[in-house]
Amino acid sequence: LGNGLASTPQMGWSSWNHFGCSIDEEMIRETADALVSTGLYKHGYKYVNIDDCWAELSRDDEGKLVPKKSTFPSGMKALADYVHSKGLKLGIYSDAGYLTCSKKMPGSLGFEELDAKTFAEWGIDYLKYDNCNTDGSKPTARYPVMTRALMKAGRPIFFSLCEWGDLHPALWGSTVGNSWRTTNDIADNWDSMISRADENEVYAEYARPGGWNDPDMLEIGNGGMTKDEYIIHFSLWAISKAPLIIGNDVRNTSKETMEIIANKEVIAVNQDKLGIQAKKVRMEGNLEVWAGPLSGYRVALLLLNRGPDRTPMTGYWDDIGIPPSSTVIARDLWKHKTLKESFVGNLTETVDPHSCKMYILKPIA
Ligand code: DGJ
Repeated sequence: LGNGLASTPQMGWSSWNHFGCSIDEEMIRETADALVSTGLYKHGYKYVNIDDCWAELSRDDEGKLVPKKSTFPSGMKALADYVHSKGLKLGIYSDAGYLTCSKKMPGSLGFEELDAKTFAEWGIDYLKYDNCNTDGSKPTARYPVMTRALMKAGRPIFFSLCEWGDLHPALWGSTVGNSWRTTNDIADNWDSMISRADENEVYAEYARPGGWNDPDMLEIGNGGMTKDEYIIHFSLWAISKAPLIIGNDVRNTSKETMEIIANKEVIAVNQDKLGIQAKKVRMEGNLEVWAGPLSGYRVALLLLNRGPDRTPMTGYWDDIGIPPSSTVIARDLWKHKTLKESFVGNLTETVDPHSCKMYILKPIA
């Protein structure tokens, strides 16, 4: 969407994956504090996104949404002011239907202009817009109404489309929002994570600065996968130019989780200004090579072993747009080391089961 936002994929945190409907203003404030104290905001995680369940079931006399009095007593303006005072941005959630997915709060269908204006008045910076409990009309009829309402409201608000399948949002999202879901909800397990990466890959050509494919939010730190699987999760999202919206309890982020979500070199691949989503360039059973171009004549390469055996894997220049006779230096983004030798034609490394290796390749001759 041409609203000047999303020149690189959005980064931040959302309440949904870890907390579901158990949210309140205190934990949102503590999360903002934790994003600062952990240093995560310096790595780019700037959106603090409140997901479903923040509002009263009834609108007020003027038809406005009302933050739930028991959980958000200070209101959203005060919360936005707090989050902004930390140098962060506040995101909120609504739905292109009569009720949100939880059915615990109203949706914005029929109230688009009023809600967009209200969000702008509160100082909201990001809207995730879900697709539950609708009138049965097509999302392509309902979502652009909110796009226009947001533009009219006069505040730059990142617009995240959460419609994942009625009508393949990747095909129409670029004039409607800044990112669009390509999958249904992620769960904190290997099969769910890896299948979302697969489904999202199909739409690679639709991602570009201004609008990104969204295979759903990150589960790193929520406990359902091994460290290596979470490293795969982060590597795949990064190389796929997916939004990096963490979904753990940031107030209790372990060292292991920090090592993954604060990996500067992997984040830099995601935020690379070229904005081209990587694709699978070679698949042999459980072994997959993913690659995508980066700025500065570089290429991001991911050797992904989805299987149960430790196996040597090869990335061929031929597959990834580097002249086969080129000499290339390789930076290992998880070991934070530039490999000593240079490579011509291909790079072969052994990869553990359910693990990956991620490199930036730079031709030098
Ligand atoms: C469905 C979305 O896909 C989830 O990310 C979350 O926002 C829930 N709805 C909230 O009800």
